[in-house]
Amino acid sequence: MTKIALNKSVWKKKDLLGLEYLSKEEIEFILYTAGSFKEVTTRQIKKVPALRGKTVVNLFYEPSTRTRTSFELAAKRLSADVINIATESSSVKKGETLIDTGKNIEALKIDTIVVRHNCSGAANILARSVSSSVVNAGDGWHEHPTQALLDMFTLKEKLGKIEGLKVSIIGDIAHSRVARSNMWGFTKLGAKVTVCAPAMLIPEGIEKFGVKATNDLAEALDGADAINVLRMQFERDSAVAFPSKLEYFKRYGITSEKLAGCGKNIVVMHPGPINRGIEMSSEVADGKNSVILDQVTNGIAVRMAVLYLVSTAKDGQR
Ligand code: CP
Repeated sequence: MTKIALNKSVWKKKDLLGLEYLSKEEIEFILYTAGSFKEVTTRQIKKVPALRGKTVVNLFYEPSTRTRTSFELAAKRLSADVINIATESSSVKKGETLIDTGKNIEALKIDTIVVRHNCSGAANILARSVSSSVVNAGDGWHEHPTQALLDMFTLKEKLGKIEGLKVSIIGDIAHSRVARSNMWGFTKLGAKVTVCAPAMLIPEGIEKFGVKATNDLAEALDGADAINVLRMQFERDSAVAFPSKLEYFKRYGITSEKLAGCGKNIVVMHPGPINRGIEMSSEVADGKNSVILDQVTNGIAVRMAVLYLVSTAKDGQR
C-alpha cells in the first residue's frame, strides 16, 4: 500500500471510460496497482480502509454476473459503501433518462458510478454530465476496459510479460466491447494482436487498432502465446454471420485437438459467459491451459485498483 500512495500521481483521471483514452504508462500503472491489491485479496482479512467513507453505485442497465459482483466486492474490500441499482426495478422503467438518473444519484452525495449500458458511448455521456467518477463496466459494442485490464493482468501473471507476445482474439469481434478494449490494451503494451472470425464478424476499419485480421483459425493459433476466445453474442445478431452453431464450432471452436496441433502451450482466456460447445469445448474451458477462473479472481484486484485510482484522482481535483 505504501508503494501505491507514493506513485498515485501517475494517475490523474476521475473516470475510466476506455483503454483507447489511456497511455501505455497509465495502463501499466493500473496493473501495477492491481498487483498490490491482489496481495490484499489473499489476506485472511481481505479489507483495507482506502475508500472508507466513500460510496460506489453500481448502475447496470444490462445483465452481469462477473463484472457487477466483482465491482461490489472490490468496493467493499476498499471499505466503501456500495449501492446496487438494477434498472429493471428502478425509475428507469418509468422513462427516466441516463443523465437524469446519474444526476439524481449524485444528489445523494455518492462518489463513483460504475455503469453498464447497452448503448456505445453511454459511460462517456454520463461522465460529462456528473462530477462523480464514472467507471465504464461495458457500453454497447464500444469498450469494457476493466475486462481487458484483468485479461492483461492475468496473462502477465501467467507469462511474466505482455510485450512481444502473440495474442489472438477469436470470435465475434464485430459486436464485442471486450475485443475493442483488448485490441487497444494489448497493442499499447506491445503485444502482436491477431483477430480471427468469419468475415461478417470482423468490422471494417479494424486496421486502425494496429492488429492483423484473418478468417483462418489455424493462422490465428500458429505461434500464439495466448488466445482470448469471445462469446457469440446471439442477443446482438452474431448468428446471422454463419449457417449454424455446429458449423461455427467446427471451423472456429477451440478444441483440445486444435490446441495440440499447435505444438505450443497456448494460454486460453474467455471473458465469460461461455457458450460451451460453440466457442470452445468443455475440455478446453476446464483444461490445463485455461485461465478463465483466474481472470474472474483477478477482476477483484483490478477493479479495486480502478476504484481507488479514480477516487484519489477526483479528490485531487477538488
Ligand atoms: N465478462 C463479463 O463482462 O461478464 P458479465 O457479463 O457476467 O459481467
